[in-house]
Amino acid sequence: MTNKLKYFIGNWKMFGDFNSFKIISKINQYAKEHKNAKKSKIVLCVPNILIGFFRKRLKRKSISIGAQNCYHEEGYGPFTGAISAVMLKKMGAEYIILGHSENREEGETAKLIKKKIVSALNQKFNIILCVGEKFIDKKKGKTFSIIKKQINGSIEKNFNTNKIILAYEPVWSIGSKKIPKTKELMNVIRFIKNDFKKNFKTKNFPKVLYGGSVNKNNIKLLSTISEIDGFLIGGASQSSKKFIDIIKNYYK
Ligand code: 13P
Repeated sequence: MTNKLKYFIGNWKMFGDFNSFKIISKINQYAKEHKNAKKSKIVLCVPNILIGFFRKRLKRKSISIGAQNCYHEEGYGPFTGAISAVMLKKMGAEYIILGHSENREEGETAKLIKKKIVSALNQKFNIILCVGEKFIDKKKGKTFSIIKKQINGSIEKNFNTNKIILAYEPVWSIGSKKIPKTKELMNVIRFIKNDFKKNFKTKNFPKVLYGGSVNKNNIKLLSTISEIDGFLIGGASQSSKKFIDIIKNYYK
């Protein structure tokens, strides 16, 4: 059920400017020099305005740059302020986060996310599709059904599922310093893997990341859940030290 390569994916959210290149550069240096990093895929999903700049400045790239969302229409068009998957790809992004709960909260529906997935797949992006329940759903025992609906509502059976990584991010855990209980988390990750494989008839289990308040202190505990293929890291990815410490402690 486990895939060996571990993912450490940073989601900078609304953060960063030209000076933040320092952070990217230090993480890249670490990735270049440490053998742990060779067992890992390190990706930093940064604001759109910084993607091209970072790609250009980064010499001997050992990490990948990603985007955090895209517009649902493809190519170019009369959509003021919008950025399409093709534009992000041309700037040098290789990964893209879609369906983040912070975007769903703004009204992004499964149908809209599906269109975004289609446009990102057309650009051969590696997609990180976020799913996860709110606290109220958890209380009502609806975690599995919510996740199932989120996945099945935005992925079609004929999609290239090899390009889709799932990220389980319980909404109540994001930025709250709370993480799920180990047993509960393991069960959700297993559920996602089994259900996905069965539903989309894939040869292998999908890769599933965990996201929500990941830090250098809780990563050791999280590392005991071998089914987790990696982590989607918010706040702690905005500091090279905090981000690198997570990787270091994971392999300790
Ligand atoms: P935090 O790590 O800040 O809780 O954010 C998680 C997240 O939303 C990553 O996408």
